Amino acid sequence: MLSSCNNNFAEPLRQRLPAQVFNLIRKIGNLAQERGFSAYIVGGFVRDFLLGIGNLDLDIVLETDALDFVKILKDKFKLNVVTHRRFGTATVTMPSGFKIDIASAREEYYPYASALPAITYSSIKEDLFRRDFTINALAIKINRDNFGQLLDLFDGLKDLTEGKIRVLHGKSFIDDPTRILRAIRFEQRYNFTIEENTARLIEQAKRKGMLRKLSRFRVGDELILILKEEDPLKSLKRIYRLCGLGFIHPLIKIDKMVSRQFESIKREVILFRRNHAGRSLENWLIYFMILTFRLSLPQIKRLCRDFCLTRRDVRKIDLFKRNATRTIKLIDKDKSMPAHRVYEILSHFSDEAILALLCLAETRRARIRIKLFLNKLSQVKIELRGQDLKRLKLKPGPKYRNILQKVLYAKIDGKLKSRSDELNYARYILNK
Ligand code: CTP
Repeated sequence: MLSSCNNNFAEPLRQRLPAQVFNLIRKIGNLAQERGFSAYIVGGFVRDFLLGIGNLDLDIVLETDALDFVKILKDKFKLNVVTHRRFGTATVTMPSGFKIDIASAREEYYPYASALPAITYSSIKEDLFRRDFTINALAIKINRDNFGQLLDLFDGLKDLTEGKIRVLHGKSFIDDPTRILRAIRFEQRYNFTIEENTARLIEQAKRKGMLRKLSRFRVGDELILILKEEDPLKSLKRIYRLCGLGFIHPLIKIDKMVSRQFESIKREVILFRRNHAGRSLENWLIYFMILTFRLSLPQIKRLCRDFCLTRRDVRKIDLFKRNATRTIKLIDKDKSMPAHRVYEILSHFSDEAILALLCLAETRRARIRIKLFLNKLSQVKIELRGQDLKRLKLKPGPKYRNILQKVLYAKIDGKLKSRSDELNYARYILNK
């Protein structure tokens, strides 16, 4: 945990932020100073910064019209900026991938409980007061005068030090019941505790059935955020105990089997990342496939539709659900199986589905074969191209795919070593 005797964090900011980001923040602060309004870093970035944890998303709040200011910023510093007119916010993306969101200080009110908030512009104080927890309501001023000064209006620093999740007011969970899930997610992520009064308010909101009043889309959003955590099982278990998981789907539960499978996914994801740096993997999708596996295909499809998942993700989930049980039986068959057959059975699946299959597979043989595919076979490539077949006087057509596949299978079985082996083998198939 970072500390500073006068709650000024200018120096730690300079040390911990990439120079380019730090310089831009200074420029934003200087410009705000010249124009006579205040600018702050707020929210999750400040929380994680004070905890000494890296966070690549930084939010800046301005006590002025953010879009007008961003226009000036863009012209002056030639930045890569995307504006979101509907929300009155803008995102600056740095070449390093670091993102800075810029918004006006605003007050939110909820037209009715659990609705999306209506927004009016306001001061930083009101902007911080509308937020979920004291630890997320800390701000750091970036104006030239007072650069780095912590603004702690609700004792957030104390709660951060003591590891407490505390709401700012008694209506917080009624206004926005997703905060029940957020409270648990932060509690489990940082090993904090939800303080007594906040826990009581969660209990009250639960009794009023607030989680069931949320739109399906928002439930989906929060579930995905939980599944993206390093250890989603901890949060899911806690939610299960506190409120049940019926608000996601009545058939979803966390029993011994799902817990074991989640533990196994966690281990396999770590290994995957170690062995395949640079290969992208959506962890949450693996957990989602396993969590919903006991549902029927139409039930899962309904859930995906409600949660507005992308077509690409739905396709991965659908393929997994349709074929998982059969595939695990197939891959476990026969004492010996040529490598190309393992490839043939598994190559249609996404990496996420392969890892989910690995966690469902109970026999040693099935697990060894799935791992062989994941770590070795899936990466075998041939050098032979359609052009080469053309040179062998083969007319372009569906046969190409067939021959290239046979060459690949032979290579997977270790029969071909070089490009000329591949070419000779293609000739051999053609002359057969
Ligand atoms: N926020 C809130 N109520 C919500 C969602 C968000 O008050 N239901 C506020 C909090 O101040 C939060 C900020 O908006 O810090 C940004 O939200 P978000 O990006 O969702 O969360 P982070 O706090 O950055 O958390 P994470 O580390 O999970 O991204």
